[in-house]
Amino acid sequence: MNQIDIQNLVRQNVKKLKPYSSARDEFKGSADVFIDANENPYDNGYNRYPDPRQIKLKEKISHWRNVPLENIFVGNGSDEVIDLVIRAFCIPGVDNVVGFNPSYGMYDVSAGINDVELIKVDLKPDFTLDFEALKRAITSHTKVVFLCSPNNPSGNELPYSEVINFIEGVNAIVVIDEAYIDFADQKSMITKINDHPNLIVMQTLSKAMGSAALRIGMGFAQQPLINILNKIKPPYNISSAAQAEAIKIFENIDQLTTQTQKIKSERERLKMELTRYKQVSEIFPSAANFILIRVDDANKLYNFLTSEGIIVRNRHGQKHCDNCLRITVGTPDENDLLIYKLDEYYYAENIVSR
Ligand SMILES: Cc1ncc(COP(=O)(O)O)c(C=O)c1O
Repeated sequence: MNQIDIQNLVRQNVKKLKPYSSARDEFKGSADVFIDANENPYDNGYNRYPDPRQIKLKEKISHWRNVPLENIFVGNGSDEVIDLVIRAFCIPGVDNVVGFNPSYGMYDVSAGINDVELIKVDLKPDFTLDFEALKRAITSHTKVVFLCSPNNPSGNELPYSEVINFIEGVNAIVVIDEAYIDFADQKSMITKINDHPNLIVMQTLSKAMGSAALRIGMGFAQQPLINILNKIKPPYNISSAAQAEAIKIFENIDQLTTQTQKIKSERERLKMELTRYKQVSEIFPSAANFILIRVDDANKLYNFLTSEGIIVRNRHGQKHCDNCLRITVGTPDENDLLIYKLDEYYYAENIVSR
């Protein structure tokens, strides 16, 4: 059990901050007349400000993930959670955050916007993490560590037993970004938040939950950490429309689970198909809804697929990703088309023999 006091990590100005108190914060009950928020009184479905605490949505999330309401923070996508964590804990130009490389690009961008250095620990060439190297990278000014599992763009998972050891020994906030957890076999770290006051498990409705356009990201943590994020978030960070639509997706959870299963089985089929091409020299293990592959010439294949109307992500140029493409698993028809085009490409090149 980690005894760390996160109040020692929070920026002084955030500690002292008196948060904005909205009209909806100051009066929460029901009433006949609301003339407290300078809204247009004529009802059109969206003339009122949204619930700043997103209680109805959090009730759904709480039931879905089996986490009490007070341990849930909802952000405008996980991207907002990343930004708020950096702003709550890092003094610009002084503190730093630590992450690994390659990983999700927004840690770098958000840190940069906030004038906070991101110290990057290179993953090994097979994209596994050297935890000793991660520990060595931490300085007295490290306030946040970002760990992504399954990792984007490599698709592999971190061994959670080692992650737990790491969290125990570090005097910083640890964010585990589990955007792709529903495609993984390993269980979420959510169950560990009670043991670690410095742990935030971040998830999103953008991936398996099929709602990227709604911009709903979640942070799961102990209450003191959630309170800090609530204190500094914009009062109305999730629109009423997004809250209402997000609530609806929980009615279709069975359908989403079926889709997730289908995506996972298509991922395995795609992997099998890709083994047929000898120019695909590596297919990295994936616990996500994408596969990273290494080919003979990523730029050339990328351009070919683009010209055929199939857009994959060219990761050539990222650490250990020479000639790598990241392919999101599509519908069976989309995956068939990709395979068809790859056959065409490699046959036209007259390289492959079946
Ligand atoms: C690892 C990871 N975290 C977070 C996100 C962003 O999620 P959101 O749509 O909730 O901002 C992405 C998006 O691609 C991602 O790959």
